[in-house]
Parts: sequence; structure tokens; C-alpha cells
Amino acid sequence: MATCRVKPVNVLVIYGSRWGGTAEVAKKIGLTLTQEGCTVEVINAKKNPKKLEPYDLFIIGSGMRADKWTKETLVFLEKFLLLF
Ligand SMILES: Cc1cc2nc3c(=O)[nH]c(=O)nc-3n(C[C@H](O)[C@H](O)[C@H](O)COP(=O)(O)O)c2cc1C
Repeated sequence: MATCRVKPVNVLVIYGSRWGGTAEVAKKIGLTLTQEGCTVEVINAKKNPKKLEPYDLFIIGSGMRADKWTKETLVFLEKFLLLF
């Protein structure tokens, strides 16, 4: 199993899911990182985080439909993270 090389790391896992598959993957990623010593919050992209400052790492993903991520994940990227 992989090990966090930089600790402690505060991680926000954001997912978009239409049928639940990506939600399960996101929770598994969160559980694995927690077991590795990271502090992790897993949220649906429909729910805005209160603040982004506490996090060192963002992991974002979405299930696909017709080659598209969910609308909420794209809005999340535009609103919060796509600053570069
Ligand atoms: C109607 C429909 C359209 C899909 N379109 C794509 C697609 O364009 N590209 C892709 O890689 N997967 C596609 N998939 C597969 C889904 O992305 C995959 O099942 C994914 O795990 C769904 O995530 P979710 O359960 O979190 O919504 C499609 C699935 C369905 C049911």
C-alpha cells in the first residue's frame, strides 16, 4: 500500500456522481488516505466547502455521461479551484 510521504496532509476529496459509483470510489479514496494518516473530508460537489484554506491537497473526480463530468464538478472547478 502507498504511504503519504508528507504528513500531516489535509485532503478534500470532491466527487460528482449520477448513479453512485464515483461516490463509492471517493469514499474509498478518503478511507485509504485516512488510514495513511491524512485528515480527509469527502464531499459531493453539490455541497460547497466552507473554506478551502485548510486543505493541502484537492482530489476531484466525476462519473462520465456522454463524455461529460457532472455539472456540479465543473461549476466547482470554475468557482473554487480553476485559478490558474
Ligand atoms: C447513459 C450513460 C452514459 C455514459 N457515458 C460515458 C462516457 O461518455 N464516457 C465514459 O467513460 N463513461 C460513460 N459512462 C459510464 C459511467 O461514467 C460509469 O458507469 C461511471 O462509473 C458512472 O459514475 P456514477 O455512478 O458516479 O454516476 C456512461 C454510463 C451511462 C449509464
